[in-house]
Amino acid sequence: MDKNFYITTPIYYPSAKPHMGHAYSSIIADFFARFKRIQGYKVHFLTGTDEHGQKIQRAAEKKGMDPLTFCDEISKTFRNLSKTLNLSNNDFIRTTEKRHLKSVQNLWNILEKNKEIYLSKYSGWYSVSDEAFYVEEEIVDNNGNKTAKNSGSPVEWVEEESYFFKLSKWQEPLLKFYSENPNFILPSTRKNEVVSFVKSGLKDLSVSRKSFSWGIKVPSNKEHVIYVWLDALTNYISALNYPNQNDKLYQEFWPATIHLIGKDILRFHAVYWPAFLLAANIPLPKRVYGHGWILSGEEKMSKSKGNILDPIEIINKYGLDSLRYYLVKEVSFGNDGNISKEKLESCINSDLANNYGNLCQRVISFNEKNCNLSIPKKSLFNQDDLKQLDNFKNNFDKLIGYIDNQDLNSYMNFIIESLFAANKYFNDQEPWKKKSDLPRLNTIVYVSLEVLRKISIMLYPVIPASSLRVLSVFNIKEKDIKFESIKNHEELEINNKINKIDILFKKIENHD
Ligand code: MSP
Repeated sequence: MDKNFYITTPIYYPSAKPHMGHAYSSIIADFFARFKRIQGYKVHFLTGTDEHGQKIQRAAEKKGMDPLTFCDEISKTFRNLSKTLNLSNNDFIRTTEKRHLKSVQNLWNILEKNKEIYLSKYSGWYSVSDEAFYVEEEIVDNNGNKTAKNSGSPVEWVEEESYFFKLSKWQEPLLKFYSENPNFILPSTRKNEVVSFVKSGLKDLSVSRKSFSWGIKVPSNKEHVIYVWLDALTNYISALNYPNQNDKLYQEFWPATIHLIGKDILRFHAVYWPAFLLAANIPLPKRVYGHGWILSGEEKMSKSKGNILDPIEIINKYGLDSLRYYLVKEVSFGNDGNISKEKLESCINSDLANNYGNLCQRVISFNEKNCNLSIPKKSLFNQDDLKQLDNFKNNFDKLIGYIDNQDLNSYMNFIIESLFAANKYFNDQEPWKKKSDLPRLNTIVYVSLEVLRKISIMLYPVIPASSLRVLSVFNIKEKDIKFESIKNHEELEINNKINKIDILFKKIENHD
């Protein structure tokens, strides 16, 4: 079995501060990376910033800065955000780094050598905000203001000499690839969009620009800079030291297991990127997953719409794990989702404080009073005990399947149901009435602690810091977490000491 797992986030435009949409892509990617690590995979998790192109050049000009100084500054805020979000990324790539430049120019040379690129003239619509070319049918005209239909971004007319990539030639091979690899594009509703776009006919793609200079130069013609998407997509292999295909990282991790992206950039990842790779004889990634948007009200959160909910502000107020939990659990993965302070607060109260926090607090304080903060000596498990414990063992393969199919919501529902069941079990068993039957009291506490351990392991990818706090009750360290161990009923060693912890999640009493 392939035990390597390579996951990437989109690389973010450092044209402005990071927002909730960026945090979302990154947190979900981190969820998968952490899960696969505790499942025993060797994981490479990449994120970074996409720093070239006209959008960045203009943003820098607006601030009166040279583009590199501008990027240095904002790229740093994204790097800091990775820390603030507690991402476990192995690398952070910037497209202004040498390793990337070398990789992009090499890919370009191969495409040129393979006669996949030719010089001609582009005349058509271009959106600087999307860094995308559009055909007439993709444009709407609102009283002379022309915008792209799908994104609403303004477009401008461009006419200049440009290199073209022979995208049209890859239409049939791409369709064949999609049909032979039905899970390449997920979710499947989005796959249908891509397939019909490709079926409707692919035109050759303009892959260089001449009218500005902020980008990687075409090696054979320094008047042109390479189209920012060809440049940006290459980050996924330049971070593995491409063009050195014998490099250990490249050998271990290419092709990528999953490119996690937002639905707005699916075309670039599911059409252009595979076409570039086919043309250069490089293996294709295994999966591209286009998640939905985080909406504020009914609209996509974006700088140009001015409706941004600042992730840092939310984290400062509610804590990182609350935000991580909300985004993983409350957004139906693959679809658009909403976030508001009210919804976040009610999620913190119902799931984190009243369910997880409550189980943790009551079992540990009961243990303190009755079992002297140690793992009690259990006796034989009865049917009620086994029902709690077996649940994890019996559903183990199903849980792994949820993750491998990116069915985050089923995974989360399982956790929530298990938490309810564990709280109910503790209530129904009434250990406080068993003081005259210590073997039974001890067994109930043992089972509850085991379930708390299992659920905390399951929650590690979602809320790593809180999960580690609970696991520290049992002296379990991060490096020792094994997902497989949720199958075992007797991991906790009798008589081992356990540690107390403070309240995990505070209930939010009233709004301000
Ligand atoms: N630089 C390109 C990606 C290049 S990848 C080779 C880019 N950058 S971006 O900063 O504009 O967006 C990065 C990601 O954030 C995209 O996946 C996009 O879908 C996601 N989001 C931006 N706003 C979003 C929401 N409001 N909600 C969820 N994600 C959205 O595109």
